[in-house]
Amino acid sequence: MDNTAHAFKLVIVVGSVREGRFGPTVASWVADRADAHGAFEVEVVDLADFDLPLALPAVPPKMAGDAYPFPDSLAPLTEALSGADAFILVTPEYNHSYPASLKAAIDWHFTQWAAKPVGFVSYGGAAGGRHAVLHLENVLTELHAVTVRDGLSFPNYFFTWEDGLPRDPEAEGYAKAMLEQLAWWAGALRAARAAAPYPG
Ligand SMILES: Cc1cc2nc3c(=O)[nH]c(=O)nc-3n(C[C@H](O)[C@H](O)[C@H](O)COP(=O)(O)O)c2cc1C
Repeated sequence: MDNTAHAFKLVIVVGSVREGRFGPTVASWVADRADAHGAFEVEVVDLADFDLPLALPAVPPKMAGDAYPFPDSLAPLTEALSGADAFILVTPEYNHSYPASLKAAIDWHFTQWAAKPVGFVSYGGAAGGRHAVLHLENVLTELHAVTVRDGLSFPNYFFTWEDGLPRDPEAEGYAKAMLEQLAWWAGALRAARAAAPYPG
């Protein structure tokens, strides 16, 4: 399979919206790695830029299809997710899970995630956001997304990042492994989606 002629659209989602959050720093570093990788056209989507209603419509997006009443406030987010070939979710850990903002963004969408690969970059205290990622893997599977095995986890980021960069010299290699897997799946799944509608 030759995917070299076509860049994959990679959407990097900043999952936290908290005042004073660290998420944009992590997302910016990941976006630089993805740009440098060469296979991707990268877009960073910051959930803090959207009004994310918690009250969902009566009919879930899975059932409503094209009739799903997306609020106008979400239109740019929905458009970005719809056009993506791959995702990276950048998430902190809140009470051993991921933030409500990220759950709201996920739940407002359905087909936008299906048959597309998702990588995770997490950060937090001692566990580095691993509880958040375990929960996200579970949720994204329900949405027919394909979670890639390799990701990045930054424990105690307040000690292990300096001037917007992780101090761990291995981080570059971990990022490359995740991006390689995302590119492979993005190509395989884009071709598969084009060949036949996903039966989910
Ligand atoms: C409500 C809340 C709960 C948190 N719970 C955890 C936790 O369970 N495990 C952890 O490692 N860090 C936890 N933290 C620390 C966050 O991981 C840390 O504050 C991180 O910076 C949050 O990401 P953000 O700055 O992008 O919002 C929590 C922080 C908040 C605000």
